[in-house]
Amino acid sequence: MKHQTCLVVDFGGQYTQLIVRRVRELGVYSEMVPWMTAAARIQELDPQAVILSGGPSSVLDEGAPTLDFEVLEGKPVLGICYGLQLMSLRLGGRIEKAHDREYGRRQLGEVAKGSLLDGFAGEQVWMSHGDQVLETPPGFEVIAETESCPIAGIQQGNQFGVQFHPEVTHTPRGRELLKRFLFDHAGFVGDWTSASFIEESLERIRNEVGSGRVLCAVSGGVDSSVVAALLTKAIGDQVTCVFIDHGLLRKGEATQVIEQFTNHFHPNLVAIDAQEQFFGALKGVTDPEDKRKIIGAEFVRCFEAHADQLSDCDFLAQGTLYPDVIESGSPTSAKIKSHHNVGGLPDWMRMKVIEPLRWLFKDEVREVGRALGLPDEMVDREPFPGPGLGVRVLGEVTPERVHMVQDADAIFREMIASHGLRNGIWQSYAALLDVKTVGVMGDERTHQAPIVLRAVASEDAMTATAVPFPFEFLEAVANRIVNEVKGVNRVFYDYTSKPPATIEME
Ligand code: XMP
Repeated sequence: MKHQTCLVVDFGGQYTQLIVRRVRELGVYSEMVPWMTAAARIQELDPQAVILSGGPSSVLDEGAPTLDFEVLEGKPVLGICYGLQLMSLRLGGRIEKAHDREYGRRQLGEVAKGSLLDGFAGEQVWMSHGDQVLETPPGFEVIAETESCPIAGIQQGNQFGVQFHPEVTHTPRGRELLKRFLFDHAGFVGDWTSASFIEESLERIRNEVGSGRVLCAVSGGVDSSVVAALLTKAIGDQVTCVFIDHGLLRKGEATQVIEQFTNHFHPNLVAIDAQEQFFGALKGVTDPEDKRKIIGAEFVRCFEAHADQLSDCDFLAQGTLYPDVIESGSPTSAKIKSHHNVGGLPDWMRMKVIEPLRWLFKDEVREVGRALGLPDEMVDREPFPGPGLGVRVLGEVTPERVHMVQDADAIFREMIASHGLRNGIWQSYAALLDVKTVGVMGDERTHQAPIVLRAVASEDAMTATAVPFPFEFLEAVANRIVNEVKGVNRVFYDYTSKPPATIEME
């Protein structure tokens, strides 16, 4: 069963992704398309409804983002902020060029009875605009006003526009507005769930792969695990999962990944123990960029060494998520993903790529994982960098130094869990510094390495803040680490936010 789509046209607004999220939270499948390619996409996809996003430009400026409104003919449309202004201008209304920007919380005054905003009088809404509508297009009625914005909402038939942002939490009843638009006026029923996503994906994978074979590299992380589970469910042993243990995972994690995979969805799993190879290649190397390059190159070598088991594959599965698709595909967005775990794949690995999660956000991937029966430990796993502890052991990466980090990290994370402090943590870890400090243990002077603990709260890893643990907790963790981890005589906690620091230390 194919689900109907609510297409969100992006005019460069800072909240456009949020509109997509809100719509999906209401059980309606939604995609975002940049305004330049929107008309073609609307014709191709024939979405059931279209939302026009906000944006930083003025519709009155030459070359401002626009849309051919003929493609919207007959479709339910909701214009938000810039979307409302564009809609008004295009359909024959008038726009007033701004002298000042209006930004912040406002209250709706009177609203029109029986309109999209019926019952919203006096509600708080979030404004962020310069220009505003001076005159509605012919046939449209004004359905809301605020003190400073006499035309804060318009409607005619199934076309609507609001000057404020219903997608942000500062508009407390914004979700209800979107729900009314989608369910009462656009005919959606809200039946897009993880279960229906899985059902559609299985069908799509089977159609695409046919009787071919798929290679799926797994790291133990959430995304690749969910891809592997989905593929295994769709095409069984036509998929070969490859797990490379480079020795740079957390304590006990390699065994755990293999056990979890085997117990939970019986994949065709090739587990490669490449610890010696990676440690050999990293011997004597201290520069962080060199370490990353070496780790990437060793991954490729591993694949090559196992070409006999893997080279009959026609497809390569990747755990690309929707934010990556948006970032790399949208000319309206400036962010570019810069992490590449595996560089320079050998020729035989240039297979057709399939990306079953390219429509999902991270939390949706987690839900799909749960719906596929993956255990919480797997689904809730923190993001972990591809080069693993290679970026958390500063200086030379030796098995001894990796073990120190693994032991300290295990103590830290176990204590976070046992003290009930996990909530709100994006990532938490221990790292080993490349210096020695003096200490005293028993009657002996020591000259050993310090461990740094880091825990951050973040939405998307682009920015992060340090988690404010109670002092007593950090003191207890430090005590245990110094007592139990051989070679460590001091523990620091990293209070720096990102920016200016990064999450990893390298
Ligand atoms: P930074 O350290 O740049 O990290 O603030 C942002 C997020 O990305 C993760 N990270 C990586 N992930 N390969 C990955 O797949 C990498 O090479 C890599 N380096 C950093 C990091 O853990 C954090 O979540």
